[in-house]
Amino acid sequence: MRDIRSGVGSLLILAAMVCAPRAHAAGTAVPTFSHDIAPIIYNHCAGCHHQGQVAPFALTSYQDVQQHAGTIAAVTATRYMPPWKAIHEKGRFIDERRLTQAQIDLIQRWVKAGEPIGNKRAIPAPPSFASGWLMGKPDVIFKPDRVYHVAAAGGDVYRCFVIPTNYSTDRWVKTVEIRPGNPRVVHHVIVYLDTTGKAAQLAAATHDGEPGYIHFGGPGVPAAGSLGGWAPGTMPMTMPHGVGMLLPKGAALVVQVHYHKDGKPETDLTRVGVDFCTKPVERKMKIAALAYPGLYIPPGDANYTVHTDLPIPTNVHLFSVFPHMHLLGHTMVVTATLPDGTVKPVIDIGNWNFNWQGFYTFKHEMELPAGTVLHMTATYNNTLSNPFNPNDPPKLVRWGEQTTDEMCLCFLLYTVDAQHLNANVTTKQ
Ligand code: HEC
Repeated sequence: MRDIRSGVGSLLILAAMVCAPRAHAAGTAVPTFSHDIAPIIYNHCAGCHHQGQVAPFALTSYQDVQQHAGTIAAVTATRYMPPWKAIHEKGRFIDERRLTQAQIDLIQRWVKAGEPIGNKRAIPAPPSFASGWLMGKPDVIFKPDRVYHVAAAGGDVYRCFVIPTNYSTDRWVKTVEIRPGNPRVVHHVIVYLDTTGKAAQLAAATHDGEPGYIHFGGPGVPAAGSLGGWAPGTMPMTMPHGVGMLLPKGAALVVQVHYHKDGKPETDLTRVGVDFCTKPVERKMKIAALAYPGLYIPPGDANYTVHTDLPIPTNVHLFSVFPHMHLLGHTMVVTATLPDGTVKPVIDIGNWNFNWQGFYTFKHEMELPAGTVLHMTATYNNTLSNPFNPNDPPKLVRWGEQTTDEMCLCFLLYTVDAQHLNANVTTKQ
C-alpha cells in the first residue's frame, strides 16, 4: 500500500538517524515515554491497538511502544496513523483522530533520543476499554439469528445480514451503536434499511449454509435509508435535539459487514443497539448525496477529475458527511458557497483509502441557507502508480457496484429547518 511503502522509506532514514550520535537541539528537553509519549499513544492509538481489536498489535505498555518505535515514528509522520482522512480541519468533527504537528514532532524527537522511558512511576495507567455498550443498555438490540463463519484465508468478504424488525408502526431512532462481534475481522459496517422484502429474498436464495448474502457496494436492493455505520474508532451516533432517524414500519435492517480475514477461522455476530426517541420528533434526519455517475476513467490517467454541484433549495442543517469512492479514488473536496458568496469547507479527503471510510460528523451542524451551492471535486488515479489499482494493465473504468468499478459519492445527513413533524413517538411494540 502506498502509505506503508512511504512509511518504510522514512523508516530507513529514521534508522540512520537513530544510529547517529544522539544530539539534541539546545534548550529542548528530551521527551520521555512517561511524560510525553504515553499520553499520546494511550489517547490516540490504544483504542484500536489493544488486545482483540482490529489493529495488528497492542500499544498499551512501554515495551509495546518501544518495540514498534521506528514504525510508529514513520507512520505518524506520514499521517498514515491514526487513520483519519479529512485534512486541514482540526476541531471540526467529533471523534476526530488526528495528531497535532507538535505531537508528531515529539514522537520523532523521542525516537531520535533512543526512546527514553523517563520516570517509570509516573507512567500513566493504560486506558481500560469498556466491554459493554457505550450508549448504555439499548432499548433494542438487532442481531442476525446466528453467527457467521469467516474463513481463515482468501479475499475480503462483504456479507449482508437481514434482520426483520416487525414493527407495525414507524419508529424514530435517537441513538445507534454498532458493535462488531469480532473486531479482529470486522473491517467496517453499514446499516441499510429495506422496506421491499428484497434483501430477505436475496438471503433466502443464498445456499452456502451461512446467514445473509454477499454483496459489494450497496446492499443490492433499493435502500429506504440507513442507520449509520461503523469503522474502528466509531462512537455511538446520537441525533440532535428534536431530530430522529426514521425506522419505517415493517423495515428490515440490512447490516453489511466488510470482513478482512486474519489467517484463522473466526466467527462473528455483529449487533446494532438502538434507543428510540422519547420526545416528539420535529425533524427527520434525511440523506442525500452529491454524486457524479458519469465516470469514464481512461487507463493511464493519473489525475482524472470530475466536478458536480448541488444547489440547496431550502434552509438546512448539515449533520454529517460520508465520502465514498472505490479503489481508483484519490481525493475528494466538498465546499459550500453560501448565498452571500462565502465559501465554507465541508470535507477535504487528501489521500483516499477505501479501507478507511466512515461518517464525518460535525461538532456544530453546518447551517446552509437556501441558495447555498455544494461543490464536489473528486480525482482518480488509473495508473499503476496507484497501488490499489485492481487492473494490471489499467483499463477503462466506469460507475458500478463491483470493487473494480468506481463510484463518486458524498452522502449528506441533514435536516430541513422548516420541517415540523410533531411526530408522536412510541417505544411499545
Ligand atoms: C481507528 C483504529 C486505529 C487507530 C486509532 C490507530 N491505528 Fe494503527 N493500525 C490500525 C490498523 C487496522 C492497522 C493495520 C492495517 C493498516 O496498516 O492499515 C494499523 C497499523 C499500524 C502500524 C503498522 C503499519 C505498518 O506499516 O505495518 C503502526 C506502526 C501503527 N498502526 C501505529 C499507530 C499509532 C502510533 C497510532 C496512534 C498515533 C495508531 N496506530 C492509531 C488501526 C488503528
